[in-house]
Amino acid sequence: MTTVSNRVHNFCAGPCVLPDDVLSELADELPDFDKSGMSLIEMSHRSASYDQVHHETLDLLRELTAVPDDFSIMFIQGGASLQFAMLPMNVLSAQRTAGYVVSGTWGKKALADAEKLGVGYSAWDGGADSYARMPSLDELDMGHGASFLHVTSNETIGGIRMADFADPGVPMLADMSSDYLSRPIPWDRFAVVYGGAQKNLGPAGMSVVFARTELFDAIPDNTPGYLSYATHHKGDSLANTPPMFTIWGTNKMLKWIKDNGGLDAMESRSQRRSDALYQAIDQSGGFYRSPVDEASRSRMNIVFRLPNEELESTFIAEAATHDMVNLKGHRSVGGIRASIYNALPDASVEALTSFMADFASNHG
Ligand SMILES: Cc1ncc(COP(=O)(O)O)c(C=O)c1O
Repeated sequence: MTTVSNRVHNFCAGPCVLPDDVLSELADELPDFDKSGMSLIEMSHRSASYDQVHHETLDLLRELTAVPDDFSIMFIQGGASLQFAMLPMNVLSAQRTAGYVVSGTWGKKALADAEKLGVGYSAWDGGADSYARMPSLDELDMGHGASFLHVTSNETIGGIRMADFADPGVPMLADMSSDYLSRPIPWDRFAVVYGGAQKNLGPAGMSVVFARTELFDAIPDNTPGYLSYATHHKGDSLANTPPMFTIWGTNKMLKWIKDNGGLDAMESRSQRRSDALYQAIDQSGGFYRSPVDEASRSRMNIVFRLPNEELESTFIAEAATHDMVNLKGHRSVGGIRASIYNALPDASVEALTSFMADFASNHG
């Protein structure tokens, strides 16, 4: 068994840390997969060995998420960004529009593509509050006869999340990229759920899209083949060459989630760990400051500020000398961001909270 060593505490927002066991298994199995004399990424995607991995991954997703049978699960290359376009192309129309919650960078990008297609409008925009919170239901503008509401369950850059999935009165379309499989999904609220794999699910290279199959009847005839959900649904995500390494890595990550208690356990894990970090912020006597509304605080991307930008740079540099990396906030907002996705070890969160306390007492 390959020993995975010399690991840093990796707080990257995506692609993100994977469990040592997953990396070790990938390394061990890579050169000779399933006694085939070749690696999985060298074999045909029509081979029996790959087919087993592919379908097992679909089955694991179904089991872990408890998604109802009337949802299709699709692996689609192009990341969540392609879904910003594919989702409106497949599901929305002039007669079936969606209100979009613009809760930050990602909600804004999703809306931009829907607007280009003339099928979406802004149902709420948090810009006036610097995208520091999610809206309440009564703030949503649903007066345009929208059939759906598009939401971003967790804004990775701003560090805010929808604390619950209250019923807006229409089915939701959700980008769950940065809190995928970190909490159970109440499926009755959703028509489509999608997200890039590279945060909570595995290596980069695809989106996992859950969509109600009844929606496929309304896909316009002129939708190009690869861009149609029907193609991926009918082909079991094997209509063309799939991102085999990504799916294989996701397979192992899903088994890790299952072995570690499934989505309920991931939810308590994320609550416990984010609580520890917010406590380190709140109990610092004002040295650290959370710029987001308390009720909307993300459990995946914890953003915070120090008294000035110079101290923030020193914080990042000193943290690196303690093997804590990727703590710089997104270039559009600055500050510090600690991403604590499912696979990040508890030890990394403990190292960070203890470093924060030392840093505040040395520089406060
Ligand atoms: C919430 C959210 N949506 C969409 C994206 C874009 O994802 P991708 O890079 O897979 O296209 C990201 C990337 O970080 C994200 O965090």
